[in-house]
Amino acid sequence: MESLKLAIEDARARYISINPLSEAADKRAEEFMPGGNTRSVLHFGPFPLTMVAGEGAELVDLDGHRYIDFVGDYSAGLFGHSDETIKAAVCEAMDKGIVMGAPTAYERELAALLCNRYRSLDQVRFCNSGTEANLMALTSALAITGRKKILAFNDAYHGGVIKFPGGSCQLNVPYDFVLADYNDVEGTADTIRQVGDELAAVIVEPILGAGGNIKGDPEFMHMLRDLTTETGALLIFDEVKTARLGPEGKQGILNIKPDLASFGKFIAGGLPTGAFGGTAEVMAHFNPKLEGNWNHAGTFNNNVCSMAAGCAAMGKIYTAERAHEFFEWSEAFRLSLNEMFAEKAVPMYANGRGSIIAIHFSTKRTGKTSEISAGCRTLRPLLHMELLLAGILICGRGDIFLSLPMNDGHLAKARLALEEFADRYKPLIEDVLG
Ligand SMILES: Cc1ncc(COP(=O)(O)O)c(C=O)c1O
Repeated sequence: MESLKLAIEDARARYISINPLSEAADKRAEEFMPGGNTRSVLHFGPFPLTMVAGEGAELVDLDGHRYIDFVGDYSAGLFGHSDETIKAAVCEAMDKGIVMGAPTAYERELAALLCNRYRSLDQVRFCNSGTEANLMALTSALAITGRKKILAFNDAYHGGVIKFPGGSCQLNVPYDFVLADYNDVEGTADTIRQVGDELAAVIVEPILGAGGNIKGDPEFMHMLRDLTTETGALLIFDEVKTARLGPEGKQGILNIKPDLASFGKFIAGGLPTGAFGGTAEVMAHFNPKLEGNWNHAGTFNNNVCSMAAGCAAMGKIYTAERAHEFFEWSEAFRLSLNEMFAEKAVPMYANGRGSIIAIHFSTKRTGKTSEISAGCRTLRPLLHMELLLAGILICGRGDIFLSLPMNDGHLAKARLALEEFADRYKPLIEDVLG
């Protein structure tokens, strides 16, 4: 462990020496924002880079370094930083009027695009973030069933106030959550049966994102569908990230129709939004033309910039065909990383699916968070720093998100950086993992 500590210190020293302007900007920001930060996940030690420009799939920082951006704004950046079609759509919408305070053609078009794409959506409503979409889906499930308990999974992330790292979080909304282990078929089935007719909903990410981009096993996901139907609870798929996988998201890949699904991130081309929807029967509760409907408010639910960008993004760029091609291309990259790690016999593995990847320090796919060793977690800061120093931006926790403007050259550079990391640190990795 001492050698890992020294390696991280050495990488950080090199990082500090080439980023004096980012360091100073971070220091100045501390006066008016706690720790200089307004989005916790973007913080990392010794200080985060301040970005000043983005073009395609690349970013430039305050000290003038250029990076290939595999953070991809944690998957919201699917379209990269400067897509001309999205920029034109936003400019056109702004030219026509920024705050209409009325229905516009944009949200109607985007709603149709989403409902025609995702099988769970007869109807949809927009909000402002993935967090809000999940809150709406959960509160709808509580109101529809008249029940109180919600089953979620250890290490799941459904938003800033609905997250379970290591089990719980001080800032969570005070709902009655019951937790189970992701991909634990028997344990989860037992819990669902035990909670029985008190269970309002099961909320699940088809890929456990913040928990390490762990793919939900088909058997596990189908069990959730069957048992929620049996117990009268609603099944909510959080597809905020995974809706980008293939033409129809993970619900299409798994051939499962959840009762409700939530969306966000990329569906507005990189602008803020969220959406939740489900069967016509469930969504009818929000119909303002019906007696006793539920009032769902939100000043910016249909803000024209996000809605117009979403129409361009989902209608003109990320068509079902493009989503299919992108999935195949991304998955081939992920598999090629695993071939490379296996050839080198280095205990590293690209977990995830398609364009949603996380590097694990392990020789095989991680199927449960309990399989992530303490050593794996302690190695991630070294991987993060070394890749940054090689001009490859990845998330601090090891996530890698691909974006549409990337090309084979970008992927080759990332593969090379990972290869060099593996060559350089293989003995250290083996030592840390024991
Ligand atoms: C699976 C999942 N659900 C919900 C959210 C919350 O979305 P937002 O950050 O837009 O509130 C996120 C964000 O990372 C997410 O990854």
